[in-house]
Amino acid sequence: MTLNPISAKTTLFRRRGHDAGQVAVGIGRYGFPAVCDLDALKLPALVLGGPRTGKTRLANSMNAQQVRVTGGGACIIDFKGGDDIPSYWAEVAQQENRAFHHFTLNEKSSGAYRRPHPYARTQPSFYDPLVRGNGDSKTAMLLNSVDRDGDAAAYLRTAEDVVMLAFDIADLTGFSAGKGGLETLTAILDPAALDKAANQLTVDAVLRAHPSMADVDARRRVNDLQQRVAEMGQKTRGAGNLLAGAIGDSQTLISKFANSSALGGRLRPGRDATDTIDLVRALLQGEIVVFSLPSNDYRSLSILVSTMVLLDLQNTTSTLRKNIADVRRLTGDTSRKADATPWKPFVVQVEELGSAKSTAAAAALLGLLNKSSNEGIRVTLSSQGWGDFVAVDGTGVWANQVLEQVYNLFCFQLGSDADDQAVCGFSGQVDKRKPRMKHEIDIGGRWRLWSGARSMNSGMTDSVRETRIPLGTLQELTKDDATDTREFIWIAKTPTLSAVHTVDEGPNMWFEPLRLVTVLEPPNRHDFFGDPAAVEQAEALRDEVLDKTSERVRSDAVLAHVLSADAASVEEPTHEAASAPVLADAEDPWAVAAPLPAREQLREPVSVRPVDSDVPLRPDPGPDPWDETDTEWGIDPWDSDADRGQAAVEKYGS
Ligand SMILES: Nc1ncnc2c1ncn2[C@@H]1O[C@H](COP(=O)(O)OP(=O)(O)OP(=O)(O)O)[C@@H](O)[C@H]1O
Ligand SMILES: [Mg+2]
Repeated sequence: MTLNPISAKTTLFRRRGHDAGQVAVGIGRYGFPAVCDLDALKLPALVLGGPRTGKTRLANSMNAQQVRVTGGGACIIDFKGGDDIPSYWAEVAQQENRAFHHFTLNEKSSGAYRRPHPYARTQPSFYDPLVRGNGDSKTAMLLNSVDRDGDAAAYLRTAEDVVMLAFDIADLTGFSAGKGGLETLTAILDPAALDKAANQLTVDAVLRAHPSMADVDARRRVNDLQQRVAEMGQKTRGAGNLLAGAIGDSQTLISKFANSSALGGRLRPGRDATDTIDLVRALLQGEIVVFSLPSNDYRSLSILVSTMVLLDLQNTTSTLRKNIADVRRLTGDTSRKADATPWKPFVVQVEELGSAKSTAAAAALLGLLNKSSNEGIRVTLSSQGWGDFVAVDGTGVWANQVLEQVYNLFCFQLGSDADDQAVCGFSGQVDKRKPRMKHEIDIGGRWRLWSGARSMNSGMTDSVRETRIPLGTLQELTKDDATDTREFIWIAKTPTLSAVHTVDEGPNMWFEPLRLVTVLEPPNRHDFFGDPAAVEQAEALRDEVLDKTSERVRSDAVLAHVLSADAASVEEPTHEAASAPVLADAEDPWAVAAPLPAREQLREPVSVRPVDSDVPLRPDPGPDPWDETDTEWGIDPWDSDADRGQAAVEKYGS
């Protein structure tokens, strides 16, 4: 079930009809919609499911709704590649008047870039992850973006020292002015070039870079840097030493970036804001950025770039924190709530994460997840199965660390027993009532002989402790392309661990398969280039929006300052009002070996329903003329909630 977008009428309907505080997720078995509070999405989410089950469509729909409602931007890292993701998000950007940037690797076939949507620029955008920061932070970013083993691991410490020295000297001598981070290093990371640059260092240059520094300290800094370069020059003479190896290793890494035909020289700053991705700007202005990094075609390169993006996102929020007063002025934020950021929520969607197996990327992602909820970054990860996650580090340690950070898990049909077992395990354990004499209860039918069935059930049930979601459920979910029926289970960790269902929880009603319902989704395989007038309109709007962005960067001094290299976070970010944890110190119910949620947190079932399986029953059709109220059994929950409207849908948790 989809709503077709694009027409102004639809947009009008959306604005009026949408509750600003919620996001539509799916529809339950009984026709009640399942929605999610916007605030619940502050915490990371994970979407699992076999191939073509609907993972991308769910993540797109939920995230695009957030982007539309909050006005915040989005960054999508797509390890699968292809046009689906960039065309979807370009359409959202166009409808919402946002700047749209697409970073992509050149196709192996070496064909020219085909833009995915008329709102996308005719060329991919540039991106320099090393555009801001000091020598220290830029070095960490560059060297932490690669997996290291063998020699490379031994060189790391030394490589850090020398790359940092190179960045510092380049910045202080003005050598890096107007150059991208990689371009700078390519030119200066060599003992002779560094020696030459060090000799040009002056006290004045250091004072220009650090106006508050005392003369004597500036002089000391010059001497120190020059001395280190001289020592380095001596140490590198003679073959086979660690320093020469570290320099050689770093040069190889840089030239990998610089000479990659897949990158096409786009890992550097472009001309201006119209053709260059800047994540600080994207966060402040609600821009939409898609990184298409097909890991099947370019494994190491896609990992390298994505890791830089993940690290850059962390630096981005540190930079905003460091310039909090300016940021407040730019965003007009006055709330000062402890758990709010003075910038709008920013969505980060990582598609097919499991296909990018890399310890560097894994560490960077964990770093982002750890701080994301306090920094207004809303992360959604998707993968084809839990096994892919476990395989990232080969041990499952990383996968479990990620899981600890995930607060909403959406799971479509899974292809393997092992994955099914894992997800059932995450759903926690509950006590289920099992009838002892099943056949007697079934006699007379479930619906017409309520009281009879109940009485018979009395004293004939066993309490059995089982996973909330029974084994096999995830494999049995419906995925029907012909009718576009795609079921998923939604496990939420807050306020307590529960599988979301649209009707009350009961002794055997612990979960409910929900059906995917997307909001404002373009028709399947829609040709965005089909209508020449629409193409022209999209291009005109694109140029106007990009020009406006660029003009704002030029004319708004406060924005220009926050975007400048000077504004970059160089020390630990100063956290104003210590950001309160989004969640209270709740125990983590998903930790595999963690204690189970306290029994009393689970709402006691109001009545015992005569069911013989875990499959949720249809709700009671309501009191029939022959159904007398059985006071002995209390009020039936369905009857007591007769005026439950469609709008009062809910995430019923325990
Ligand atoms: N607008 C649409 N209307 C109806 N069906 C669609 C629409 N868009 C996509 N589909 C179908 O839904 C299927 C599942 O979509 P989706 O791409 O979200 O799955 P996925 O789980 O992300 O798949 P993959 O594992 O390949 O990434 C697609 O293969 C396509 O056949
Ligand atoms: Mg997908």
